[in-house]
Amino acid sequence: MAAKVIAYAIQKGGPGKSTGVFNLAYLLASRGRKVLVVELDPQGTLRRFFGIDKPDTTTLQMLRGERYHIVTVAENLDVLPATPELAVIELEAQSNPMWGAMLREALDDVRGDYDFILLDPPPSLSILMTNTIFAADGLIIPVETEEEGYNGLLLLLNTMGETMGRIRKHWRIKDNIIAIVPTKHDRRLTHHREVLALLQQNYGPLVSMVVRDSVKYPDSTSAHIPIYQFAPDHAAPWVELAERVERWGGVSSNAR
Ligand SMILES: Nc1ncnc2c1ncn2[C@@H]1O[C@H](COP(=O)(O)OP(=O)(O)OP(=O)(O)O)[C@@H](O)[C@H]1O
Ligand SMILES: [Mg+2]
Repeated sequence: MAAKVIAYAIQKGGPGKSTGVFNLAYLLASRGRKVLVVELDPQGTLRRFFGIDKPDTTTLQMLRGERYHIVTVAENLDVLPATPELAVIELEAQSNPMWGAMLREALDDVRGDYDFILLDPPPSLSILMTNTIFAADGLIIPVETEEEGYNGLLLLLNTMGETMGRIRKHWRIKDNIIAIVPTKHDRRLTHHREVLALLQQNYGPLVSMVVRDSVKYPDSTSAHIPIYQFAPDHAAPWVELAERVERWGGVSSNAR
């Protein structure tokens, strides 16, 4: 077993990256996949979603090549959390010639233990974000169905795509997208429906099922319960996304 690494990434703030990692990770684990979540955001939002309060070690130790412990939060589901101190890596990396590959290298030690490793980056075009994309085999991109959400996608595909193409030879962002996930969608709004149509028109089969705008999401993460259990009527897009991930990863959906 060599884990497939997935970045749930976009540089834009707040479309539901951490919420998406939380829900996809639980769903894959419930389907028998061994999953590791690595939080790369000093905000520590995802750590709090999982109910991890004061971890002994964090992603900072992993990136520095020091000893770290992974926290098991459920059957098949492990988490390496982040805390605000992770921000120092942005400075430390400046004296490291391998600054872009720190995460990719560090993951080599754990790749053999999992089916999927999910990465939760910060909302910025930062060193942590570059490391996330450099380490990833595939990308899941959450996009809010409004104008700024769509512009954020274009910025990722163009600016970030070009930068990464320079750092990572023969790598094209568009060839490595597992799914573009429309998020926080309110179908009562004409503007939301228009942006969704634009996404579907331009990115066709890459666009996964719509995640609706619903207060159940913040409610479920504050209760530390994945949405498929907290509000089963919200489960469908997550099941579809998990199936996409399994197909992309080459594991059949009815195995095990
Ligand atoms: N589908 C949704 N409907 C309504 N609210 C949502 C939805 N998904 C996420 N949220 C809420 O939006 C806020 C941002 O979500 P989240 O932290 O997952 O986004 P993020 O992209 O990780 O943010 P950041 O860019 O700060 O890392 C949170 O309050 C979360 O509960
Ligand atoms: Mg986040």
